[in-house]
Amino acid sequence: MKFRIFGNTGIRVPIIGQGTWQIEIDPQNAINALRAGLDAGMSHIDTAESYANGLVEEMVSKAIHGRRQEVFLVSKVHPDNASYRKTLRACEKSLKRLRTDYLDAYLLHWRGSYPLEETLHAFEDLERVGKIRAFGVSNFGAEDLDTVERLIGPNRIACNQVLYNLGVRNLESMIPRCEKGRIGFVGYSPLGTGLFPGRETIAGRILFSIAALRNLKPRQIALSFLTHHSNSFTLAKSTNIQHVGQNAAAGSISLSKREIELLRATFPINHGATGHTESQ
Ligand SMILES: NC(=O)c1ccc[n+]([C@@H]2O[C@H](COP(=O)([O-])OP(=O)(O)OC[C@H]3O[C@@H](n4cnc5c(N)ncnc54)[C@H](OP(=O)(O)O)[C@@H]3O)[C@@H](O)[C@H]2O)c1
Repeated sequence: MKFRIFGNTGIRVPIIGQGTWQIEIDPQNAINALRAGLDAGMSHIDTAESYANGLVEEMVSKAIHGRRQEVFLVSKVHPDNASYRKTLRACEKSLKRLRTDYLDAYLLHWRGSYPLEETLHAFEDLERVGKIRAFGVSNFGAEDLDTVERLIGPNRIACNQVLYNLGVRNLESMIPRCEKGRIGFVGYSPLGTGLFPGRETIAGRILFSIAALRNLKPRQIALSFLTHHSNSFTLAKSTNIQHVGQNAAAGSISLSKREIELLRATFPINHGATGHTESQ
């Protein structure tokens, strides 16, 4: 597994981390899979207060029990809870459900109607008292990032977590924008939330042939492609231990320049595709 410095934090984080959205569907396998992922070096675990109304955070607490120190733990505040006071309260609740006294990063899940300065103020206070080590955002566009920097100055937010997979690469320009601001670029739904290119399309056949030539799985090629830039991270979700092993192994692959160019051409940027896919 390759590691990189995560935005402004100075902390080395694996390029492939573990998602937890909808893992409540298969609780015991999910907890076992998260543990296997930690064993394989995928120590970045992403969760949110809104995932199954807090149930997923409780599941994560079971998965990380006894191993908190090795985890880079991230949770997110829902925009409806993002006023100054509600953010402080939401963080307390997440910490309680996760059975920990700090988060490695706390993110605003997406921009809502509360003034951004209130959320940022709460994040700064939480950071000051050690309840969070860093804070960041999710589903923010370039203008939103400019606004954050205007409000609290440069180099303050750790990451921007956005949709990024082979079918939806339209936020790729966010990678250099984030790098400029020392903001980690974290792609989510890298495997299309299960909708992954198959052999029935020309693009899928090209992907499968790149994988076959290296004796790898197409999803491993995808994860490696999505993290080849020096400022990018991704979060793959799986409740299957075998898949978790494959995803972790993808964190050691180095694609050639030629393979990267071929993948770029095969999966061109589609500016029609957009952002947020979660419904909870
Ligand atoms: N900030 C946001 O607004 C936001 C939005 C969406 C997602 N996220 C985060 O990003 C994470 C990942 O995205 P996601 O949950 O949408 O899904 P994803 O990781 O794109 O895809 C998950 C699907 O891929 C399958 N899969 C995973 N590894 C596989 C492998 N090696 N071989 C075959 N199938 C494999 C899983 O099935 P199996 O379980 O059977 O392996 C599951 O069906 C989320 O869990 C969440 O933490 C954040």
